[in-house]
Amino acid sequence: MPFEVFMRACLYDPDYGFFATGPLRSTKGGDFLTSPEVSPWFGRIIARHVQEEQRRLAAERFTVAEVGAGSGSLIRPLLAALAAPTPEVWVVDASPAARASLEEQVPSAGVAAALDDLPESFIGVLVANELLDNLPVALALRAAGQWQERRVTVNDHGRLVLVPTAARTEVAEWADRYCAGTPDGGLVEVQLEASTWLNDALARLDRGSLVVFDYGGTAEELAPRRTQGTLRTYRAHHLGPDPLDEPGETDVTVDVNFTALEEVARQAGASVEVLRQDDYLNAWGLSDVVSDLRHRELSLARDGDPMERLRLRSERTDAETLLHPRGLGDFRVLVAQK
Ligand SMILES: C[S@@+](CC[C@H](N)C(=O)[O-])C[C@H]1O[C@@H](n2cnc3c(N)ncnc32)[C@H](O)[C@@H]1O
Repeated sequence: MPFEVFMRACLYDPDYGFFATGPLRSTKGGDFLTSPEVSPWFGRIIARHVQEEQRRLAAERFTVAEVGAGSGSLIRPLLAALAAPTPEVWVVDASPAARASLEEQVPSAGVAAALDDLPESFIGVLVANELLDNLPVALALRAAGQWQERRVTVNDHGRLVLVPTAARTEVAEWADRYCAGTPDGGLVEVQLEASTWLNDALARLDRGSLVVFDYGGTAEELAPRRTQGTLRTYRAHHLGPDPLDEPGETDVTVDVNFTALEEVARQAGASVEVLRQDDYLNAWGLSDVVSDLRHRELSLARDGDPMERLRLRSERTDAETLLHPRGLGDFRVLVAQK
């Protein structure tokens, strides 16, 4: 089977998929720690962007939607930081455990399982953090100056293995376009489903902004990683086994190719920017928040409550984690505005 069919089953199969079964994955005790799980300032800062769009668009009905909303740790501080008027809110997640948490955590929101369940047309802001890295990919291998595809099959010993096959046209075209210069032996993940997702999301957004955060980079930035590819698994906050070894038991993920997304958004008529996460958050004031927290902490150091000082310190260090230049700060943000 093509790798994207295998990856879709690993993540979303109703009986065995990593996201379809088991507990909530994006928590401190779960499998990965994301920006909104690290600090509520992630959601609060995005609220400033939302507020600005609310002002710019002055729409009677304004919607805030989050796809891949996990535990609700982004949308809750975001909504709490918004001044009136209250927007219409949608939270979407493929995982039943996440939807159960969202129904409890964000009772005012419509809860849905897929982007397709959102209103067909709305004005507002759509946010997604660490979603697109999960969307199923095809695998292409550069061999003798051509693209081959690697598909999943079962060998004579009953083991899952990757086998080379001729590349489908759309796979070879995508790889040619966004992975030019890949040397022989180089492996790339062909992210057609991420492009389809972005196109569908922008088709629903009549006016407003779509803001997508993830790890990855531009096609050029990803070039040095093409010898091995970026496909990997995560479990319990650590890199997991080979994706073929324990299907359904781990997160399967890739670095997102933001050049491909940028082109899709442009073709959909949006004006587009790709920034680093630290630059995006600082542009909306996170560095000011951090220095304010530091000043308050210092003034408490002289004659204040030591517990409050410790609380401020941990709030500040969590907020700083969002900006770490080799960590979360190095994530990319695609802002597509219509
Ligand atoms: C890495 S977690 C991130 C969760 C949350 N955004 C955060 O930052 O903490 C990815 C989330 O997206 C959900 N998800 C994965 N694929 C999805 C899809 N195609 N549509 C909707 N949700 C999806 C998963 O169930 C999971 O909750």
